[in-house]
Amino acid sequence: MSTLDQSFVNNSSWKPDLFKGKVAFVTGGAGTICRVQTEALVLLGANAVILGRNVAKTEKAAEEIQALRPGAKVLGLGNVDVRDVQSIKKAVEKTVQELGRIDFVIAGAAGNFLSDFNHLSTNAFKSVVSIDLLGSFNTAKATFEEVRKTKGAYLFVSATLHYYGVPLQTHVGAAKAGVDALSNALAVELGPVGVRSNCIAPGMISGTEGFARLATGTNLDQRVPLQRFGTTRDIAEATVYLFSPAASYVSGTIEVVDGGAWHIGGFA
Ligand code: HXC
Repeated sequence: MSTLDQSFVNNSSWKPDLFKGKVAFVTGGAGTICRVQTEALVLLGANAVILGRNVAKTEKAAEEIQALRPGAKVLGLGNVDVRDVQSIKKAVEKTVQELGRIDFVIAGAAGNFLSDFNHLSTNAFKSVVSIDLLGSFNTAKATFEEVRKTKGAYLFVSATLHYYGVPLQTHVGAAKAGVDALSNALAVELGPVGVRSNCIAPGMISGTEGFARLATGTNLDQRVPLQRFGTTRDIAEATVYLFSPAASYVSGTIEVVDGGAWHIGGFA
């Protein structure tokens, strides 16, 4: 079920047709955070393709997102594993065939589980780094020729847990630190061809898998400087900003959307 609806547009700071004619390409788009990011872009006029490993889940999410705006086109492409660059390249071809172009890329596919270092196998560490970091590289690589044509923008989904040490998250922290570095390097290399690259770093966002796994203490919301957990809408709003013309001089940044929490050491 979708999180956002027309009320997002009606009560929004953004123009309803802000992204008219634009196409978003989103890995992990059937998951909670990347799905809401896609919903916002589609509600504000974009068409989109969402990619995932699970065919039924991805196609169902695409149908539901498409229904949010009359005239929207949203494709759901399953059987895409971001660890396999060829599967992303096929999805890029299909996107261009069906939707004509790619303006915005959200590299959001991620894997996570809690494991202490002592029990984390080499293969387990490699699996998460391969999905989060190599998968982000593969996504950028496979889409680059199309993004260059449109002078588009990349948005990598990062985290804040590598700003300090979060127990049981060695693998994810290492992978997300790499994602930040990847985005920064792309911002510098691709700036001259008109392509921007940024990260978004969600904090504790209620309703997400990460939240369910990590927000296990009591009254954690009161530790957040803004005195509440984040919402998926908070992530959607920041995403819209970063792809909007308002951010046309913003590249190589990490937009932290966490209510100020990482400054007090997060929740570790
Ligand atoms: C320890 C584990 C484990 C666990 C898997 N492994 N789960 N080790 N604790 N709970 C180990 C396995 O034993 C194996 O190592 C290795 O990891 C690979 O496991 P596979 O199941 O073969 O891998 P694969 O099928 O590719 O699955 C990848 C995955 C899985 C990451 C392990 O969880 C996954 O596909 N997740 C995608 C969905 C997901 O997690 N979404 C959450 C996103 S939320 P051995 O040594 O036995 O071979 C998120 C938020 C992060 O990312 C930010 C938080 C703030």
